[in-house]
Amino acid sequence: MAARGGVVNEIICGDALTVMRAMPAEIADCIVTSPPYWRMRDYGHPKQIGTEATMEEYIGNICEIFREAKRVLKSDGTLWLNLGDGYVGKGGHSHPNGFERIHRNRQIPRGCSRWGGGNATVPGLAYKCLIGMPWRIALKMIDTGWILRRDIIWHKTNPLPESVTDRPVTAHEYLFMFSKAPRYYYDADAVRSPYSAASQERLRYPIVNTCDTYGRHKPEYKKTGISLRTIPLNPLGKLLGSVWKIPTRPFKGPHFSTYPEELIRPCILAGSPEGGIVLDPFMGSGTTAVCALKHGRNYIGIELVPKNIEISQRRIDAVKKNIQPKLQIIWK
Ligand SMILES: C[S@@+](CC[C@H](N)C(=O)[O-])C[C@H]1O[C@@H](n2cnc3c(N)ncnc32)[C@H](O)[C@@H]1O
Repeated sequence: MAARGGVVNEIICGDALTVMRAMPAEIADCIVTSPPYWRMRDYGHPKQIGTEATMEEYIGNICEIFREAKRVLKSDGTLWLNLGDGYVGKGGHSHPNGFERIHRNRQIPRGCSRWGGGNATVPGLAYKCLIGMPWRIALKMIDTGWILRRDIIWHKTNPLPESVTDRPVTAHEYLFMFSKAPRYYYDADAVRSPYSAASQERLRYPIVNTCDTYGRHKPEYKKTGISLRTIPLNPLGKLLGSVWKIPTRPFKGPHFSTYPEELIRPCILAGSPEGGIVLDPFMGSGTTAVCALKHGRNYIGIELVPKNIEISQRRIDAVKKNIQPKLQIIWK
């Protein structure tokens, strides 16, 4: 796709790298996104990310895209990146590329399929080895100058059933929070939550340091009888932690690999001011745009597959019936 202009609160159809190269520098307050996972899906487009033959190629492409994303992000902006992992030899189907397309799921639209064979072989990794792709990418991003501020565990409270009996089933994914600079926009108060009864109770027992019989440090909780009212709890609630318990939400439309709004709400609330701009270079079914609009932010979306843009647009139009974004920025 040739480089072209765009408008805030619209989805631009094209390849993320090419589109961002044409965008003004430092336009986005924060970036929230989930690129295609390596060898997980085939979106049926020659420019798609995720079907690279080697993991080095995939990591290289992802990091190149996020190098451009860094230019487009404000100097005090943050990037929130959701990534999934996979195993070597998953599925074990044979295909000239090492994997095979299957169409078992009726919801999968034509030209968009699940990779059945996964990663039949991956040079350097043994059969059945977890690839560790999220961390491979996170570490490479650090090498390209991003500051990794937090790995967040998305604890899926309703994980997909797996039939494996030789390892624990997968019930989490990673979300990485990166910043461009050591100081950045982060609204901690916007993402506080109520204290649990257990932590309120614990605050009544200040820690007293003692040593056990081997001289090892041993914290002890001593009951003090302090009334809860005298404990300086923040009235806005407790700070956001690094494990987020969120169920996956089945998406009714034909697109899949959607993340739940609950997962990205804290990223948008903490990472951008009201009226700010949230960029998603892999817009998929439009979850980032929908969530941004619902919380008084603007969005810029990029998506390669026109059919996915239609799906997003329907979801966005439903939200825009009630909320009309005011910001107008157009670039050539
Ligand atoms: C994992 S999905 C994103 C899902 C999204 N977070 C949601 O909730 O719907 C990844 C999306 O990236 C798109 N994509 C793949 N390669 C791309 C590229 N080079 N540039 C832009 N989008 C791309 C795919 O078509 C797919 O819709």
